[in-house]
Amino acid sequence: MMSKLNPNMNKLNPNIILIGFMGSGKTSTGEVLAGKLGLRFQDTDLMIERKEKAAVSDIFTEKGEGYFRDMETELLLELKDKLVNTVLSAGGGLPLREENRTLLKELGLVVYLEVTAQEAVIRLNGDTTRPLLAEGNLKERVSDMLKVRSPIYEQAAHIKILTDNITPEEAADLIIREYEKRLQEYTGK
Ligand code: S3P
Repeated sequence: MMSKLNPNMNKLNPNIILIGFMGSGKTSTGEVLAGKLGLRFQDTDLMIERKEKAAVSDIFTEKGEGYFRDMETELLLELKDKLVNTVLSAGGGLPLREENRTLLKELGLVVYLEVTAQEAVIRLNGDTTRPLLAEGNLKERVSDMLKVRSPIYEQAAHIKILTDNITPEEAADLIIREYEKRLQEYTGK
């Protein structure tokens, strides 16, 4: 199911940015999407890990979440005016800062991959790589975080797609349809 939130891209910038909660399928959909469109796939978590030479969970433990969030903003500032032909998967917490939301929309078409708490719990059960889910009851944690984050993701995106019952392949096709429409509108072809 696809909904338009704020369908206008400010200017043509043919990157696609995937945002959404942990487990929403940003990586799986992003890889399929990039393959279909012949774009590069990049992931903000991996880019930060490469810069820091440390895993996200170790950055959280050793330097704290605030440090990681600053790295996310710094990375977006670096990508501004430089990111081309890319599907970018943004870490789940990256759109929480207003400054980051503005930067994301400047980078390209922002797609919110939505997932319900129930489905996210199924997908994230047993995961050990996400520091924010390491403690407490997974179900409560996911549902509390989603309540706070859902409106923020909506605000950050041009379109949203509910991923609960569709494959990454199907999600990618829905995104491509919207993406091509926008490119056509822009170029008039
Ligand atoms: C986070 C999501 C993670 C990673 C970090 C924090 C979050 O990325 O950036 O663990 O705050 O939701 P994914 O959404 O790619 O798992």
